[in-house]
Order: sequence, then C-alpha cells, then structure tokens
Amino acid sequence: MGADEIKKLLVKIKHPDLNKDIISLGMVNDVTVSDNETLVKLRTPTADRKLQINLEAQVRQAVSKQIEGKLKIKFDVDPNLSLDDSNKVPGIKRIIAVGSGKGGVGKSTVTLNLALSLASKGYKVGVMDADIYGPSIGKMIGVNGRVALKVDEDIIHPLEKYGIKIITFAFLVDENQPVVWRGPMLGKAVEQFLFQVSWGELDFLLVDLPPGTGDVQLSLCQLIDLTGAVIVTTPQKVATLDASKAAAMFAQVKVPVLGVVENMSYFIPPDMPDKKYNIFGEGGGQDLASDLKTQLLGKIPHVIDIMQGGESGNPQLLKEPGGVVEKTYKEIADKLEEEIKKWED
Ligand SMILES: Nc1ncnc2c1ncn2[C@@H]1O[C@H](COP(=O)(O)OP(=O)(O)OP(=O)(O)O)[C@@H](O)[C@H]1O
Ligand SMILES: [Mg+2]
Repeated sequence: MGADEIKKLLVKIKHPDLNKDIISLGMVNDVTVSDNETLVKLRTPTADRKLQINLEAQVRQAVSKQIEGKLKIKFDVDPNLSLDDSNKVPGIKRIIAVGSGKGGVGKSTVTLNLALSLASKGYKVGVMDADIYGPSIGKMIGVNGRVALKVDEDIIHPLEKYGIKIITFAFLVDENQPVVWRGPMLGKAVEQFLFQVSWGELDFLLVDLPPGTGDVQLSLCQLIDLTGAVIVTTPQKVATLDASKAAAMFAQVKVPVLGVVENMSYFIPPDMPDKKYNIFGEGGGQDLASDLKTQLLGKIPHVIDIMQGGESGNPQLLKEPGGVVEKTYKEIADKLEEEIKKWED
C-alpha cells in the first residue's frame, strides 16, 4: 500500500475534540513507505501526550491491518500549527458567495463569468454550485445532467472546464426528479462539497447560492466560512429591494458585502452594437450599493449572446475576447481584487 492510499485511510481519523479529520487539520506531516516499514509522521501544536496517544491508537487501528511490515508513528511538536476548528477549507484562500434575493437575475451567469475572468488573471479558481433546487452551472459549461463524478474512496474530484474547477449538485441528483433536501442532508452535502472535494490550492472559490433569503441560504452561509459576498441585482426597484434582503442576511451571519453587480443593466441590440437601451430602468445597482455602503462593481449589459452562451455551454466571455462582456467582467474582477486586498490587509 502506497503513501497516497495510507493518506486516504488517515482522512477518516478525527481529532478527538474537533469535528475534523487529521489531514484537513494539517496534522499529517508525512507518510513514507519502504520495504518493510510504513512511517506516519504526525504533528501536534503542543506536546499533548493525551492527544498523541489517542491519535496513535486511531492510526494503528486504521492502518496496521492494511499494510505489510511494521507501522511506525512519530510525533513532532509544531507550535506554528493552529488547529483551526472553523470552517476554513485547507488550500482555499477565499470563499466568496454570490447571492441575490430575487431569482433569475443572473446570479449563476455572473458567478461563472466572474470565475472565468478571475482565472484569466492567473488566479486558481473554483466554482461551487450550491443551488440545490436549480443547479445550473453544469449546463452553462456544457455538462448536462448527472455526470459521472469521479469519486475515489471518499474524495470527490471536481470537474475541470475552461481552467476552473467545478462542482454542482446537478452532479449528484437526477435532473428530472424534484429534490427535497432536509436540513441535516443539506448540511452533510455542503460539508462534503467543501471538505471531501479535492479542490487543491485555490485563490478563489465562488459559491453560487440559491435565490432568496430563507433558511437554506442562511444555513449555507453558516456552514461555509465566507470571506465575503457579492450581490447581484437587475436595475429595477423590485429586484434591488429583494437584493437588500440578501444583504441583510449576510449581515446577520457577519459576512461582509464586497460589492454589487448590476446585471442586465442595459440592452445592446445585436444589429446596432452602438445603441444602449435601459430596458429595466436605471441606477438601481448604484442606489443599492450606496444604501449598503458598498461599491458598484460593474454593470453588465443584456446581451443575447450571454443567454445563448449559457444555453449552449459556451460562455460569451470566452467567445469574444476584448468584447464588452469580457471587458466589463475584467473591471469587476479588478475591483473585487482591490476590495479583497483591503480586507486582507
Ligand atoms: N447579462 C445578460 N444578458 C442576457 N442574458 C442573461 C444575462 N445574464 C443572465 N442572462 C440569462 O438570464 C437567465 C437567468 O440567468 P441565471 O440563470 O444566471 O440567473 P439566476 O439568478 O442564477 O437564476 P436562478 O435564480 O434561477 O438561480 C439565463 O437564461 C441567462 O442566460
Ligand atoms: Mg442560478
């Protein structure tokens, strides 16, 4: 049995006091396998003998019967190791939720295109489609229905497309069946999406939340340790009113709003690309941003190609480099980057 296989066994071992496995907590320093010996090096923040004895017993039980030869377990004390019990996901620097109060304002479209834009700036980006009732990211990247998710042992491998890593509930549920999630089931699924997915190193994980501000959204925000939120709205009052409810929800769970994106701000007729029509009114995004004491990150036009790109799985942003859609998203990504730097300093 190789080192990687041993690690898969170690993923199942939990810290006795924390609800997290020793791999996620960074307590496994190294695993080496030689002819007749398997060496597991663990580390603890202090020389806590009780903890070490507990872990040693757990590791022995999980590993010794699976290997040939001897099992050696060594402990190092690493005062820099902080056993973070929060919902921080190892390897993921920032998790940003994209939310809105109203459905159909373009949250999923914005999530995906913003992810592509951040990726084009050289960031490592992942997208988690947490819209349990109407997961749509899969369709938008041209992966329909229930795809064969690669799961080995307990690790789920995200799908990779256009340079971003993607996981969606659509991969887990049957497209044609209504989904009834119960609280505990939902919690479990989200936890799995975060902690059992081999995200690797990510600079950004964007989370496409379901529309609305109900219990489901609230518990999702509590389960995930969010860096901040981006609120999507369309310009009209009915949409901004709902969007401010989303902002109130983020405030309730103490997640900072990083900015507002106004989608479908104006319509550009395909045959008259120089014309702009404010079909949904004007100024709603800016007003909302001012009310929330945050900034307007950008105004995305209503372009038929965006819709068609979403339907066909070919994001418009990639189809027309240098076009208005790509440029607008780049501006949004730039502003978001700046805003995040402020929070990180
Ligand atoms: N700027 C845009 N221009 C044209 N069409 C757009 C634009 N943004 C989104 N759309 C289209 O509007 C529809 C709704 O968008 P999307 O699915 O992203 O919204 P949503 O807020 O995620 O919806 P839901 O609440 O159902 O999750 C889709 O058909 C999408 O392609
Ligand atoms: Mg959506």
